[in-house]
Parts: sequence; structure tokens; C-alpha cells
Amino acid sequence: MALTGVVSYLSERAFESIRRMVYQETGIKLSGQKKAMIQSRLMKRLKQVGCPTFEQYVKTVKLNPNERATMFNLLTTNVTKFFRESHHFDFLKEGFLPVFLKNSGQTRPLKVWSAGCSTGQEPYTLALVLNEFFAAMPGRDFRITASDINTDVLKKAAEGLYQWEEVNEIPYGWLKKYFKLGTGTNSGLFKIKDILRKKVNFKYFNLAVPGGNQKDETIYDIIFCRNVFIYFDQETKANVIKMFYNRLTPGGCLFLGHSESLNINDRSIGQWSIQQHTVYRKEV
Ligand SMILES: C[S@@+](CC[C@H](N)C(=O)[O-])C[C@H]1O[C@@H](n2cnc3c(N)ncnc32)[C@H](O)[C@@H]1O
Repeated sequence: MALTGVVSYLSERAFESIRRMVYQETGIKLSGQKKAMIQSRLMKRLKQVGCPTFEQYVKTVKLNPNERATMFNLLTTNVTKFFRESHHFDFLKEGFLPVFLKNSGQTRPLKVWSAGCSTGQEPYTLALVLNEFFAAMPGRDFRITASDINTDVLKKAAEGLYQWEEVNEIPYGWLKKYFKLGTGTNSGLFKIKDILRKKVNFKYFNLAVPGGNQKDETIYDIIFCRNVFIYFDQETKANVIKMFYNRLTPGGCLFLGHSESLNINDRSIGQWSIQQHTVYRKEV
């Protein structure tokens, strides 16, 4: 298709409409300074769908839920890496799991939720750390649910295929143990082995829908929701925290990103205690 007719200018009106839709459906608050970012991320899409102007694209998006999902995919920020904020995994092994083992008594599996999992590095790091931890404990097991609003990143996560640049900080022994070299069209890539892959269940979940939008009411021992709240305003964040509170077992822990925090004095979001910087325990 000829693309020459595309007008590259994002008007204030179209910008406001896009910001409003993104906020209403995803909870992501795009500041006024994000205009250039939105313009550049959506430009290629306008060309692909043959929309000559952003106004036209806004109309299309309003009428078409699939196109809206594509737009959200293009506008979320998905930066992540294996062993990001590694002190969390140290706390998990040294602070959380010994208490869990002592208190859980029976041998039920540990349940973990990675909410806002992006391309999978966070839940696979959790799977690796937990697999190593439980290796010497017959009968002990774990399950990880990993969710995101972005269907493109979920596809990549479920595939579990990574470039060398994405895995090169994983200690060599674990890289060898938990990844295999891709073949054919995947040659040069690193694929997560089934031993970790089968521990993680990826699914779509929009955190911004009040009360959650899935029938699943699983109660978790651990929730990782790191570097997601930075995109939300106070109201959305408070609603999500309340939902997490209801989905955590007493004594369960919530892990946030390095620049995120809970106001534990605000009892309307539940009763929490601080375990270490950015790690919060559900109290009863
Ligand atoms: C910066 S990434 C963080 C990835 C990972 N947790 C980490 O810390 O490395 C933020 C993720 O949150 C997801 N996200 C944003 N809004 C969301 C929502 N309303 N519901 C679910 N996921 C959302 C984005 O799609 C993105 O993949």
C-alpha cells in the first residue's frame, strides 16, 4: 500500500483521546510529555492500517476492540531483564522461604504470581531460583502464574526464546542447565528448557479492571508486581493493592519495583508490614 498520504502530526485532540482511552482501559497515565513518544510508536501502525491521520486512527480504535488491543500493545513499556533487582531473589531464599517452609506445615505447592511479567524474564528467574531451592526437598513444589496486558509480550514470554544479549548475565552453569541452543530459524537464540517452561502459566490479565477480570480466584503466597505501578496514578494503584491484599495468603509477600512503595499507614489498602526495601508482608 502506498504510504505517502500519511500525515505525521498528532494533534492535541487526538492525543487527548488516546490518553483518555489508555487510562480508562489500562490504568496507564501518560503525561503530557509523552506526546512525541506516542506519535513515534503509533506512526508505523497508522501506515499499516492505512489511516491518513491520527484523528482517523482514533475513530478506528474506538470502533474496533482488536485495534485498541494492538494500540495498547504498542504503548506499554516492557523493559525487563533476568535477575532484575537481584536482592529480591536473595530475600526470597533467605527471608521468605525458610518461614514459608516452617509455617506451611504440609507439602502444598508454593504459589507465585508475576503480575506485569512482560517478556518472561521475571517469572523464569523466579522459576529458576525456586527450582534450585526446592531441588533438595522431595515433595516440595511451586507454580507460577505470569500475566500481562500486552498480548505481544505474552507470546514472546510463552515462546521462551532469547537473544544472547538477554541471557548473558545469567551465571554460565545455570545458562547451560536451563537453556538450550535454538536450531534452524532459531539458531543463535537461547530457549528455556521445559523444566522451567512448564512451571509457568502465562495469561492475559488487566490489573486496571476493578476486582480483576478473571474468574480465577487463586490465593498466592508471593506476588511480584515490579515496575508496573510507576505507570499508574494513586487511585489505580490503591485499587490494585487492595486486590493483591485479597489475593495473598496471610504472611504472603508483595514485591514492588525499586522506585515503588506502599503507604503502610493507610489501612484502607490492607494491613502490611515492611520486610525490606520494596518487600511488603500481608498482616492479619
Ligand atoms: C516495565 S515492565 C516490568 C516487567 C517486570 N515486572 C520487571 O520488573 O522487569 C511493565 C509491564 O507492565 C505491563 N502492564 C502495564 N499496565 C498493565 C495492566 N493494566 N495490567 C497488566 N499489565 C500491565 C506492561 O505491559 C509491561 O509489560
